[in-house]
Amino acid sequence: MEKFKVWGPSRLIGEVPISGAKNAALPIFCASLLTSEPVKIFNVPDLKDVSTMFALLRKLGVEIEVDKRNKFCEIEAKALSSTEASYDLVKTMRASILVLGPLLAKHREAKVSLPGGCAIGQRPVDQHIKGLRLMGAEIIIENGYIKAKTKKLVGAKITSDVVTVTGTENLMMAACLAEGKTVIENAAQEPEIVDLANLLRSMGANISGDGTKKIEIIGQQTLKGASHKIIFDRIEAGTFSCAVAACGGDVFLNGASREPMKIILEKLRECGGEISEEKSGIRIKFFGRPSSVSFQTSPFPGFATDMQAQFMAVNSVAQGTAIIKESIFENRFMHVQEMLRLGAKISVKGNTSMVTGVDSLRGAKVMATDLRASAGLVISAMAAQGDSVIDRIYHLDRGYEKMDVKLNALGASVERIKN
Ligand code: EPZ
Repeated sequence: MEKFKVWGPSRLIGEVPISGAKNAALPIFCASLLTSEPVKIFNVPDLKDVSTMFALLRKLGVEIEVDKRNKFCEIEAKALSSTEASYDLVKTMRASILVLGPLLAKHREAKVSLPGGCAIGQRPVDQHIKGLRLMGAEIIIENGYIKAKTKKLVGAKITSDVVTVTGTENLMMAACLAEGKTVIENAAQEPEIVDLANLLRSMGANISGDGTKKIEIIGQQTLKGASHKIIFDRIEAGTFSCAVAACGGDVFLNGASREPMKIILEKLRECGGEISEEKSGIRIKFFGRPSSVSFQTSPFPGFATDMQAQFMAVNSVAQGTAIIKESIFENRFMHVQEMLRLGAKISVKGNTSMVTGVDSLRGAKVMATDLRASAGLVISAMAAQGDSVIDRIYHLDRGYEKMDVKLNALGASVERIKN
């Protein structure tokens, strides 16, 4: 397994290109199942999860042309050979569940492995299933698989018990080809939902209310091919911003914009950052030690759970004490044990952690446990005195495009060690 060797402390200066958003790209690829015509997608990030999704779609018989150099792909689902997403692929990427809605809507059947457990929490998909059943799908759970079929999906009024990002996306895509009107109440409002809705509208879907808690979709007979540019990755941009906050420096996030990052930028200001918005990006400056900043994670427009570990890394070297409450996932503090090895002062009680900033962290061997935890560890290691080794860096490569290359271009010292 590959590792990162990180020498610290670093200061980060320069410009970093922000890639297309992983959590927009994955549902957008699945939306291509809703039409037999080609869907052209630009600003595709080069990530492990992206290639995993391409492998899954190709196993269904979807044709995919990829031009990595130009961050472009063209997806054509004109003749499927299967409507089954098998366990061996789904277990490596939970977002595979996003083929369920489109396959049901377009092909009237789907067999998708239950995603199974995940490091950060149980992550059930009961709301996906509840909504599809309300739209007329017959669904049974057998031998670890969701087996679904329908004569024709029919629009329904669905109120989600919990705000679920991929649940909202699955139901929104299914509703695009259902008969009649679907209303999704208590919908997720993430910018990635709006990006998916923008693609669906360019395919001919009739969607309104995306980005609010109530989304309305009028089903169409068919959808057509389209072209779409994926929104920038606000979590990658937020991650680099936290690296500047923890290490100090002056970095331009090329391609980022304020709206999707609003609360992240407010928190960065709160901990002492100078933020300026320019035409093609956002500039983040931190000089001296950041101040502690408390927060509680919640669905967008609240504080993103995907930014929790990164801000914990900032708090671990900040002036003061911060209280962090993780309200979305039940087990998303696994980075704490590893940050303690770097000398951080963190205590955890249930879903709340208290972080008292230290003058400096000390390099150590640590282990990545999940995607965003590994990002938090990279930030901590860059801020620490001395060298660190971060193991199981494959977690990071799932959701960050060439993070070592991007960080070294800003003046960090990160070496990728291939075992
Ligand atoms: C999406 O996951 C993201 N993944 C996650 O990003 C992100 O952390 C999460 O939303 C929350 O923002 C993608 O978009 C591919 P949820 P998702 O359904 O949709 C409960 C990353 O780091 N729930 O919004 O799987 C669930 O247990 C990843 O990029 C149900 O109870 O998350 C959780 O507590 C990690 N029943 C809460 O809702 C359901 O049917 C939010 O989960 C669905 C969810």
